[in-house]
Amino acid sequence: MEKKKTTLLTLRALKARGEKAVFVTAYDYPLAGLADKAGVDIILVGDSLGMTTLGYRDTLSVTMDDMVRHSAAVTRAAKRAFVVGDLPFMSYQPSDRDAILNAGRLIAEGGCDAVKCEGGVRVAPRVKAMVDAGIVVMGHLGLTPQNQAQLGGYRVQGKTPEAARVLVDDAVALQEAGASFLLLEAMPPETAADVRAAVTIPVYGIGAGDRVDGQLVIVHDLIGLFDQFTPKFVKRYCDAAGLIEGALSEYCSEVRSGAFPAPEHFYAAAQPVSAK
Ligand code: KIV
Repeated sequence: MEKKKTTLLTLRALKARGEKAVFVTAYDYPLAGLADKAGVDIILVGDSLGMTTLGYRDTLSVTMDDMVRHSAAVTRAAKRAFVVGDLPFMSYQPSDRDAILNAGRLIAEGGCDAVKCEGGVRVAPRVKAMVDAGIVVMGHLGLTPQNQAQLGGYRVQGKTPEAARVLVDDAVALQEAGASFLLLEAMPPETAADVRAAVTIPVYGIGAGDRVDGQLVIVHDLIGLFDQFTPKFVKRYCDAAGLIEGALSEYCSEVRSGAFPAPEHFYAAAQPVSAK
């Protein structure tokens, strides 16, 4: 039986039943289709596509056009999963109007079900503006890569009671602004549990321990397709890079040796054709 499309209500019901949501990133049609078939609940078209897929040094150069094109590829493949599109750097920070128009593009042109933006109290007005425009918003707290310069690099957040308190206040501000979900990145499990206890909306984690409503992992980390850096919290489930490189090396050898193509790869002629 065809499984039904995952919605905001499905995700709230998962939390109410105490069931974990499964959340991965995807940036293109083939991987989004595989994640959807595997039964993933939520797909994030993250601005991490800058590193995983476009070869940029960080996420800051990712544009709205990049996000819209990749979101559209993902949503064409994802029949069941709930798809969240990431708002890239400077697409929502300048004004409420920018936030609404750019989030609207991810929904209307990219086909996303929701958008994600980084930050707490200081982006709460933008979240409210997008929600008032009818858009479902996920907040992102903790290690927020778009602010990594202000954070002093890619560092674990919320390690002291004071830092945890700030995250709790941020979470409450986002929920009050109308965010439907929160994503917590890189913090101790105790801090994530405090944040989760302070709000009623589903709270997901990436590198935030197990006391949250679901887990996100970057798909390229999970399948072994990105080897420049592997965070501590990642579990690698296969070596896709090794498999693909092995297949391509074999192809190189067979073309060079003449083993490929073999007769079974040839098209048959309808009648004898001169090879002269
Ligand atoms: O872009 C992304 O994939 C993200 C995750 C790292 C949370 O924002």
